[in-house]
Amino acid sequence: MPETICLLPGDGIGPEVTAAAVEVLEAAARRHRLALAFQTQLIGGAALRAAGEPLPAATRQAALAARAVLLGAVGAPEFDGEPPARKPETGLLGLRRALGCFANLRPMYRLPGAGNSPLREEIVAGANFVVVRELTGGLYFGEPRGFAGDAAFNTMRYSEGEVERLGRVAFALARQRRRRLTSVDKANVLETSQLWRRVMTRLGQEYPDVELRHMYVDTCAMQLILRPCDFDVIATGNLFGDILSDEAGALAGSLGMLPSASLGGRVDLYEPVHGSAPDIAGQGRANPVGAMLSAALLLRHSLQQEQAAAEVEAAVRGALEAGPRTRDLGGEATTSEFTAAVVRRLS
Ligand code: NAD
Ligand code: IPM
Ligand code: MN
Repeated sequence: MPETICLLPGDGIGPEVTAAAVEVLEAAARRHRLALAFQTQLIGGAALRAAGEPLPAATRQAALAARAVLLGAVGAPEFDGEPPARKPETGLLGLRRALGCFANLRPMYRLPGAGNSPLREEIVAGANFVVVRELTGGLYFGEPRGFAGDAAFNTMRYSEGEVERLGRVAFALARQRRRRLTSVDKANVLETSQLWRRVMTRLGQEYPDVELRHMYVDTCAMQLILRPCDFDVIATGNLFGDILSDEAGALAGSLGMLPSASLGGRVDLYEPVHGSAPDIAGQGRANPVGAMLSAALLLRHSLQQEQAAAEVEAAVRGALEAGPRTRDLGGEATTSEFTAAVVRRLS
C-alpha cells in the first residue's frame, strides 16, 4: 500500500517550491523503494478562486485521510482587504486546527549560503536552534474577536493544558539536543504569559536535566541577533513564534531556507516557514530549500525514514555548497536548476 501524501501547493511561490519538494521526495522514494502516492488539493487563494472558500471540504477530507500533508504557502494580495471567510490565510489556520497539529517545530541551522545574512559571521556561525511554536491556540484563535464600531479586538487565551502539551514537546526535544530550553513570553504584562511561565516552571521539575530559562519576547528578539548561539530550543506561543521564526530566517541567510513540521495532531503538516512571496512569484526564482527540508522532516517524522531524510538534507547541503544558489542567496540559479542539482545528488 502506498503512503498517501496530500499536497497543498497554495498560492504565489507555493506551487513552485512544492513541485521542487515533490521531485526530491520522488528521488528519495526511488532510492529507498518507498511507494508514495500524491494527492493534490486546493487551499488558500487558489481554492477561493476555484471554489469560493479557502479550505474546501474536499481539501479538509483529503488532508485528514492522508499519511501527511505537505503545503507550499498561502496568501495573495487580491484578498488583502477581504473579510476572514474570504482570506487565504483562514484556510491555512482552519487546516491547522482541523488537523490538531499544535506543536510547530521550526529548526534553524546554518547551511552553505547563510553567509548571505547581514549578520557578522563570528556572531552567527554555528547557530543551531529550534523554535517550538504553539500553533492551534493563542491570539490567532481566541474568541471573542472582531470589529466593534471604530475599534477592533482579539483575545489571547491559553489553557494550562495547551501550554503543558506544548511544553512537553519542547522539553523532550531539548533532551535530544543540548538540553537548554528558553521559554519565551511577555509575563511582565500578559496574564496568558504568567500562566505560560507557571506551567513551564512546573514542568521543568519533571525535566531536571534540561536547563530552563525564561525570557521576555522583546529581549529574545534582541538576543537572537546578539547571541544566536546561546539558543537550543525555544518554546513560545503562536504569535511570538511566528515573529521570532521569521527573524531566524535572517540568521539563516534567507527566509527561504527554513522548514517546519507541525506535529501532535491527527495528521502531521509540513510547510516552509516563508509565505507566498508575491513579489517573486511566477519568475522561477524561489528558493525551494525550506520546502525540500520540510519534505525531509516528513520522511523522518511521518514515514520513519530517517536515512532518506538525512540523505535529502545532505543533498541540499551539498547542492548549496557546490552552487549555483538561488537569487535570495546571492546566486543566479533558477528554482529548477537548483532542484536538478539536489535531485542529481539523490540519484
Ligand atoms: P513572504 O514570506 O511571502 O516574503 C517575505 C520576503 O521574503 C519577500 O521579499 C520574499 O520574496 C522573500 N522570500 C520568501 N520566501 C522566499 C523563497 N522561498 N525564496 C526567495 N525569497 C523568498 O512574506 P510576506 O511578503 O509578508 O507575505 C506574503 C503573503 O504570504 C501574505 O499573504 C502572507 O499572509 C502569506 N504568508 C503565508 C505563509 C504560509 O503560507 N505559511 C507564511 C508567511 C506569509
Ligand atoms: C506562518 C504564516 C502564517 C501564520 C499565516 C500565513 C497565517 O505567517 O506560517 O508563519 O501566521 O502562522
Ligand atoms: Mn509567519
